[in-house]
Amino acid sequence: MLADRSAERVKRAHSQSQEIRVPQRLAAQLEQFKVDLDRVTSEEALYDLQVAYLGKKGSITALKAEMGKIPPADRKAFGAAWNSARDSIDAALATRRQFLKDEARRRDLARRVDLTMPPLRPPPGTLHPLAQTRRRLSESFMRLGFDVAVGPHVESGRYNFDDLNMPSDHPARDMADTFFVSPPAGREGDELVLRTHTSPVQVRTMRSQTPPIRIIAPGTTFRRDDDATHSPMFHQIEGLYVDRGVTMADLKATLMAFTADFFGQALEVRLRPSFFPFVEPGAEFDLACPFCSQRGCNLCKHTGFIELGGCGMVHPAVFEACGVDSERYTGWAFGFGIDRMAMMLHQVPHLRLMFEGDVRFLEQFPC
Ligand code: DAH
Repeated sequence: MLADRSAERVKRAHSQSQEIRVPQRLAAQLEQFKVDLDRVTSEEALYDLQVAYLGKKGSITALKAEMGKIPPADRKAFGAAWNSARDSIDAALATRRQFLKDEARRRDLARRVDLTMPPLRPPPGTLHPLAQTRRRLSESFMRLGFDVAVGPHVESGRYNFDDLNMPSDHPARDMADTFFVSPPAGREGDELVLRTHTSPVQVRTMRSQTPPIRIIAPGTTFRRDDDATHSPMFHQIEGLYVDRGVTMADLKATLMAFTADFFGQALEVRLRPSFFPFVEPGAEFDLACPFCSQRGCNLCKHTGFIELGGCGMVHPAVFEACGVDSERYTGWAFGFGIDRMAMMLHQVPHLRLMFEGDVRFLEQFPC
């Protein structure tokens, strides 16, 4: 009996606490809603909040279902409180939604788009200063009636040396300090080299064409040098003119015409006797310094002349090796470096800069 009564009391106390708690929880939910609402910064989050409080399983919605726990006398008041809570949540949501919309619109309108601004294009590349120089050289010779010929970088020892009158025991062949290339399987007997000069293009051209021949051959060449003024990879330009009655006077005249065209001023060309196995007579050719009018500067090492390259009359042995009748034809050839020419033209202090590919260097040569 006693136990029964106390159980009854506990039950009543419990349901009373429930009654008390339902309206309080409503008030607490409303407070929490205000806090949550302040944190909302997007319309999506606002929608989620609406669902969390007023959706089918929302916390405010759930409180309404607990109406039965409230004493009947208080239910009307609670119903009114619940309705007003829902209305105020609804209104706050609507206000907030409008505010977020207005914000988005304001941001959109504040965005300034200048439709006349030029687009951001990736910077265009430029030709490498060496390529620019090579092209200018080629153009000068093409204006003089020369064709441009090319040859492979990996060359046969025969074209690179033998046919140019440099047999295997020739001392000049040792001097060349060559990169030798392993021949592919099946061609073990072949001697292959990275061409040490552009002169083998002479051989290739004479073997495949009949005079008159008038070509230049610009291109990459390789030797085992490597210091401040030498790179194992460098560039040369070769010239070859073969016809009946070609003389050394033609050579000098051509070099003068070329330099006048290339440097835009007539410059003295000086030939100094020298030796190259593939020419006879051979010479080195110098150019009156175009940078100081021969007053003396660093570029001409205060000599007034710039040493450009080698030249001479094609050796009969070379004609012979290439199948050209040396009784019928004569010819001259020259060869000089492009890299140093480019360095002089652009006053580049170190050869290495030319091959490092540093954009900060290269972008100084727009073309
Ligand atoms: N091939 C020579 C060298 O690399 C340069 C040269 C000299 C080329 C004389 C020629 C020439 O055509 O006639 O040093």
